[in-house]
Amino acid sequence: MVDDYLKSVENTRGIAEKDLKGYSDFMKSKLMQLSDAEKEAWTANQVYLALGNVMTIAAELEIDTCPMEGFETEKYNEILSLNDKNLNASVVLAVGYRSNEDETQHYPKVRKSTKELFTHI
Ligand SMILES: Cc1cc2nc3c(=O)[nH]c(=O)nc-3n(C[C@H](O)[C@H](O)[C@H](O)COP(=O)(O)O)c2cc1C
Repeated sequence: MVDDYLKSVENTRGIAEKDLKGYSDFMKSKLMQLSDAEKEAWTANQVYLALGNVMTIAAELEIDTCPMEGFETEKYNEILSLNDKNLNASVVLAVGYRSNEDETQHYPKVRKSTKELFTHI
């Protein structure tokens, strides 16, 4: 994964492989220290970074999304053949246009106040 990423950096930025070796060694040493559980948590967190962006951009395009956890991971992996690709479902995001008949779209949004949401330090 690191090699593929750095190959892309080399090609995109025209940087020589030897000049990225320090960065490569650093990333590999950090990643190799992680236990399987830590790697799983890290990759799931990476997915959540992308998830936030997808939801924001979809909202800009007036496309609704609904993030969901609590699903049967094994079933998703099986139905989508993720196991065969060495992948694992970490979150589900329903994406689509809302139905005019959906009454819930008219409900006021339930949101925490800024005071409740943020801590100033
Ligand atoms: C099947 C299902 C599973 C959901 N799972 C989660 C969850 O694990 N965590 C969470 O914060 N919200 C979960 N939600 C809630 C939605 O992500 C969303 O917060 C909710 O639909 C309200 O969105 P709104 O306040 O923007 O209208 C789930 C919703 C559904 C329908």
